[in-house]
Amino acid sequence: MVGVRIGPETHRGLTLDESLQELELLAETAGIEVVGSITQNLDSPNSRIYIGTGKLEELKLLAEELDAQTILFDDELSPRHQRELEKEFDRDVKILDRTALILDIFAQHADTREGMLQVELAQYKYLLPRLTRAWTHLARQSGGASGRSGSVGGVGLRGPGETQLEVDRREIKKKIDKLEDELDKVRQHRNRYRQQRRKTNIPVVALVGYTNAGKSTLLNALTDADIYVADQLFATLDPTTRQLELPTGETVLLTDTVGFIQKLPTDLVAAFQATLEEIAEADLLLHVIDGSHENAEIQRTTVTETLEQIGAGEIPILTVYNKVDLLDEVSLKELKQSADPLALFISAKEKLGFPDLIESIATGIIQGFEHVTVFLPYKAGRLVSLFHEKGHVEKLEHEETGVRITGSMPVQLLSFFEEYLE
Ligand code: GTP
Repeated sequence: MVGVRIGPETHRGLTLDESLQELELLAETAGIEVVGSITQNLDSPNSRIYIGTGKLEELKLLAEELDAQTILFDDELSPRHQRELEKEFDRDVKILDRTALILDIFAQHADTREGMLQVELAQYKYLLPRLTRAWTHLARQSGGASGRSGSVGGVGLRGPGETQLEVDRREIKKKIDKLEDELDKVRQHRNRYRQQRRKTNIPVVALVGYTNAGKSTLLNALTDADIYVADQLFATLDPTTRQLELPTGETVLLTDTVGFIQKLPTDLVAAFQATLEEIAEADLLLHVIDGSHENAEIQRTTVTETLEQIGAGEIPILTVYNKVDLLDEVSLKELKQSADPLALFISAKEKLGFPDLIESIATGIIQGFEHVTVFLPYKAGRLVSLFHEKGHVEKLEHEETGVRITGSMPVQLLSFFEEYLE
């Protein structure tokens, strides 16, 4: 792994070390084992090889010593950087950057037809300006690690006077056009289905969370509990959406969504807009967090930030810490103390904590929000953040002894604010 700090800046809000830890996680997720890393502070990237020439020599030695097959850059490399760096290494050493890695992980996680088309499209778009050896690299990367995304290969016949590279570019542009057409069709279909769903007024609960948090396991565990009712109306239902009947008799649709990963590049978020719209239309979000993960807090923040980015920041969220079966008593107690007071603690695998969870889903759907004004003394700072996190702040006034907030908040939270209500 190669991490570079440009100027005095921190790295996308993280220290260089934290950013590299993220990259390592991403690499692991993509099935790459990290054997070593190298860092550098620079005022600006080298225009040719991104890092300094001395650093490059150091990197070559290290790569050889560790027998590395891939050099992974933490930042997005320009097509030129990538080309020049490739010239510096043996043919069998791949040069990848964070974006290529994220694309590969998305390829592994795309379950729906639309998702797969989106990933393939994003991969081709990423590839087009980088069409050198990187092409075969990524083809191997996505075909090999995931085995799911469309194989980025298939070279056409060369026209008169065309170089192989031109043929390849032409083929890729054709592919891109075709994928865009196909995506259009899938989206039209999806919209028809959505309209149909809206007509039924069935509340939608979307499972969101960091990749590997246990969303799919939870969806299965909740709906396999013989409350899954096949319904002709939803014959076109996306395979990741199921019905769940609540004890109150109400039915909700539970929908699984693509797992989030750290610091999604903005253009990738845009590429997955349609999938993410599903989240933005939900009535309630279940934010599933792997409570046993050492970076649970960073992952939680990543998901919260991404939700805001896609315009889902205002939807009520139920925070669900999963995998508590892996925690000892002390860690569970610590987690409960630091978590938000409405958070739930479950094990999707062992089906622990389900009654409370189902009850909270029912309350979350039914009760909604209430409009309030509270005066919070500065010593109650935790409540100020709670209001920000869970409610909608409309007006905030600072006074000598505290803050006055007007806005709305989930009814279930009112009891925490009772003594401060105005
Ligand atoms: P993405 O599809 O990557 O977004 O992942 P996901 O959030 O859908 O996670 P998934 O349900 O695939 O679970 C990831 C891993 O965690 C699997 O190996 C599950 O068996 C495991 N897992 C899920 N829930 C639990 C749990 O409650 N306890 C334990 N010990 N493992 C769990």
